[in-house]
Amino acid sequence: MTFPQLLQERVAAALGSLGHALPEGFAVAVDPAADARFGDYQTNAAMVLAKALKTNPRALAGELAAAIDVTGLCAAPTVAGPGFINFAMAPEALAARLGLLLGDPQLGTAAVAEPRTIVIDFSAPNVAKQMHVGHIRSTIIGDCLARIARFVGHTVITDNHIGDWGTQFGMVLYGWKRDLREEALLADPIRELLRLYKAVNAESKVEEEAMKAGERADTPVRDACRAELVKLQAGDPENRAIWQRCVDVSLAGLATVYDKLDISFDHYLGESFYNDRLPSLVAELEASGLARESEGALCIFPEGDGAAAPFMIRKRDGGYGYATTDLATVEHRLRVWQASDVWYVVGAPQAFHFQQLFDAARRWGLPGRLQHVAFGSILGADGTMMKTRSGESVGLLEVLEEAEERALAVVQEKNAELGEEEKAEIARAVGIGAVKYLELSQHRLTDYKFSWEKMLAFQGNTAPYLQYSYVRTRSIFRKLEGAVPDLAGPYLISEEAERWLALTLARFAEVVPAVLEDFRPNLLATYLFTLAQAFHSFFEACPVLRAEGEVRRTRLALCEATSRTLKTGLGLMGIRTTERM
Ligand code: ARG
Repeated sequence: MTFPQLLQERVAAALGSLGHALPEGFAVAVDPAADARFGDYQTNAAMVLAKALKTNPRALAGELAAAIDVTGLCAAPTVAGPGFINFAMAPEALAARLGLLLGDPQLGTAAVAEPRTIVIDFSAPNVAKQMHVGHIRSTIIGDCLARIARFVGHTVITDNHIGDWGTQFGMVLYGWKRDLREEALLADPIRELLRLYKAVNAESKVEEEAMKAGERADTPVRDACRAELVKLQAGDPENRAIWQRCVDVSLAGLATVYDKLDISFDHYLGESFYNDRLPSLVAELEASGLARESEGALCIFPEGDGAAAPFMIRKRDGGYGYATTDLATVEHRLRVWQASDVWYVVGAPQAFHFQQLFDAARRWGLPGRLQHVAFGSILGADGTMMKTRSGESVGLLEVLEEAEERALAVVQEKNAELGEEEKAEIARAVGIGAVKYLELSQHRLTDYKFSWEKMLAFQGNTAPYLQYSYVRTRSIFRKLEGAVPDLAGPYLISEEAERWLALTLARFAEVVPAVLEDFRPNLLATYLFTLAQAFHSFFEACPVLRAEGEVRRTRLALCEATSRTLKTGLGLMGIRTTERM
């Protein structure tokens, strides 16, 4: 149990012994102290209760504080302000906790009481379209949530729902047949597909504009694309073969990106996987009365937040779209995979789609907790949407490559004496780690600016700073020159810097589960930054190797626990550590 949980128990026991009638639904809450000068944790229980009992909160707080059994846990609680009760953890409780952390690979994090089976839908780029920096947020946040959910004991299924069946294929097929450049396809397949798609898309737009302006009466390119798409969906062998090649080269290209990112998926069930299920699914929804015809299309009319527009499951031309495949997808996840939860890590602009989807799934009778984990955009340094100089969105692979290059330049400068291979490994950990950390240290709903200087800085709330802090913990042990460090307790915590570090270490187990409450990896980032700072203050104030006996053992144990917590915490964000930097 974490310190707040232990304190909660003690406060609840004291309330029991005082015999006050507790209001319905009342629970003691213990939180980190708002002001560290007053203590480590605080509870407002007396204030909440005094309101219900119509009595003086400060008096009740005094009475309650005196009744709490603090043996072995904290100093005598104090009352502050209008009736807060403050707790300062006892050195022996911190020392005991340190031993517990060192003996536990989970670093004190308890397994969830009710493990769930959670499908996490993230990344999900579209074939023949650029995987842009916008996708980076989904990929990095989704992977971090997957790692944390697994860490706390859930069963996690990661599924990359590739957009491999959209209307873009009509354009790609048309472009492919008209002017595919075989050599270009072999050299850089994704770029060639993108070129075809963009060229045809642009032509089709020009056509449509002209038609709107009354300058022409027909749209031959758009019509030809539609025809290609219909042929593909009807199973035409030539179009199927081209489509398959497009998907194959795109997946191969994506593999390079995921490999660089250290990210993998349990499944790649793209939109096309559900194609065969669509007609019967739509028929079912129609027969059940949930879907009905509207202006030639078949629609579900959502209730609640999604009610502003119909959810179209069969278009007027008989085709199926994103809504239909997403219904088939959620059905598969809940029925075949028996998931209890599905988390969709997708940008905020799709919020309305998910409101409609969740409403439709619920009324269709699919049991499951569905959640849209939305996020904002990434902005360029000037605060507008991030673009390359030619005005295109920046490719993710280019960003990752540039991150590694920049990190390598820094490593060359700082550590010229290391071998080339080690330098490359460090550059990879630092470069990729910096990109991931920049993402994960933001609140997911805010737009953030992409800044190389900021994310690669060795000072401040950055990946390199945390990775460097880890390296510093390791260098202490290297100085022992192979001698096995004596980390065994009992420990003696006496200095303020030791106390603060031990307390911060204990908080890992409080922070990790909190990330999943509202999908906020930035809580973990902030925590690790605080931990690194606590470690540096400790390291400045308290000599480790020059100390002796119990003090030395305690300090080595604090270094070791910091080391493991930084490595594990960064690992939960998918960020690597290296032994040297
Ligand atoms: N391919 C979509 C896009 O890039 C994201 C898919 C998200 N997942 C889903 N089940 N709709 O916008």
